Amino acid sequence: MSEMMEKDPLLQKQEEYTELLRDILPLRYDREHPKAFVHTYGCQQNVADSEKIKGMLEKMGCELTENKEEADIILFNTCAVREHAEDRVFGNVGTLKALKRQKPSLLICLCGCMMEQEHIAEKIYKSFPYVSLVFGTHVVHRFPELVYHAVTTGKRRIERGTDDGRIYEGLPIHRDGSFKGWLPIMYGCDNFCTYCIVPHVRGRERSRRPEVILQEAEAMIRSGYKEITLLGQNVNSYGKGLDCGVHFAQLLKRVSEIEGDFWLSFMTSHPKDASRELIDVIAENPKISRHLHLPFQSGSNRILQRMNRRYTVEKYLDIVNYAKSRIPDLALTSDVIVGFPGETYEDFSQTLELMKEVEFTSLFTFIYSKRMGTPAARMDDPYTHEEKAARMGELLRTQEEISSRRTAAMVGKTYRVLIEEQAREGVLNARTQGGVVVEVPAPPERIGSFAQAEITEAGNFILRGKLV
Ligand code: SAH
Ligand code: SF4
Ligand code: F3S
Repeated sequence: MSEMMEKDPLLQKQEEYTELLRDILPLRYDREHPKAFVHTYGCQQNVADSEKIKGMLEKMGCELTENKEEADIILFNTCAVREHAEDRVFGNVGTLKALKRQKPSLLICLCGCMMEQEHIAEKIYKSFPYVSLVFGTHVVHRFPELVYHAVTTGKRRIERGTDDGRIYEGLPIHRDGSFKGWLPIMYGCDNFCTYCIVPHVRGRERSRRPEVILQEAEAMIRSGYKEITLLGQNVNSYGKGLDCGVHFAQLLKRVSEIEGDFWLSFMTSHPKDASRELIDVIAENPKISRHLHLPFQSGSNRILQRMNRRYTVEKYLDIVNYAKSRIPDLALTSDVIVGFPGETYEDFSQTLELMKEVEFTSLFTFIYSKRMGTPAARMDDPYTHEEKAARMGELLRTQEEISSRRTAAMVGKTYRVLIEEQAREGVLNARTQGGVVVEVPAPPERIGSFAQAEITEAGNFILRGKLV
């Protein structure tokens, strides 16, 4: 075994707790494989953390269940990015009270980004006395120890370790999908966009070593994965702080060179660091998805500056136009915020202008949500929620027009698609590299395979087609 893979003493300790729990949990729950229910809110970073937590639960001898009524352990992995996300968690934790009453041994755990905000963790702990364990994103690797403590002492606990800047490699993992998989290449964020809570709850940016990433990607491809998505809050700054000098475009190229038939995707790119070299690597390597998710957030330079995004509309369009010229079949998607503090109608109309100029395939749209502790939370915010909602309506109508024009232009063409799931009896959902869903009549055995689909009919967001 190479030096790199040697077990960390801290993780070794966790393995010991895991072994103990293999004996303790079946006795406590009176079944050989206690049942664990894990629900994930938020982005792919949380999904990736939950896959580790599920891996650890399986190592403790648990069986995963989709049904929280029968669960012995319930865990919610939470998201703090917008107020709406937090409200949903509060609501859903409230409904667990009845389950706890029916089964007093039920172990309810809350983790994730919300728990990294002290005031929220405290509020949850106080409002929901039936929650046993609250822990933050920096201590996920200590989950076995925390469960052990909870079940052996019966005491409640909040554990919010500080960001030690380390990456704990070698944790067990249970991947949710069998042909589409997430591969985190870095954690944290150093960008401090003024509206955003992520750097406050996820800690400083740190990159995994390229050889670990390559090994994991190879193993995934060997075991049949057809799409691998490299994950990070800003993948374009991958490699900062590593001593090996590998940056994102190089890493992407190396992963794409692994033998096998697969699609390679990545999320998210920050426009300030999107390089022409990255675009060239995509253009020259057919396994890399013809898709770029490049959040612009606002079409107004004044607002971009107040958001601390560190690029201008001109710079954004420059990289987009270069990408379009190098990759003619490129699908562009983006995130946009409406109603950032002080955004005037004039600023907002510049956002619409940018959307019309770029013609995104699809957009993820958000109304600004005030996050305590971020600089934007202290900025003047004179517009009402109704005004912002009206702008959002206008934005959605604009995008709908663009999307339907774009999807209509796909009719008659043939695309390579990955068949993903059953839509209904006899019909499967397939997806193009750009994330456009195509419904195709096909038997369920085709799920998880690539196919060529000719587009026969277009709706706003969904296309119909046939396999050729
Ligand atoms: N790291 C990624 C985004 C992560 S959060 C990036 O920089 O692109 C996903 C999206 O949520 C952001 O792109 C932004 O559009 C939105 N978002 C983040 N904080 C928000 C807030 N306070 N209010 C509304 N939307 C927000
Ligand atoms: Fe948030 Fe900005 Fe970091 Fe994205 S880059 S996670 S929006 S701070
Ligand atoms: Fe939410 Fe945390 Fe992701 S705040 S968006 S789950 S990094």
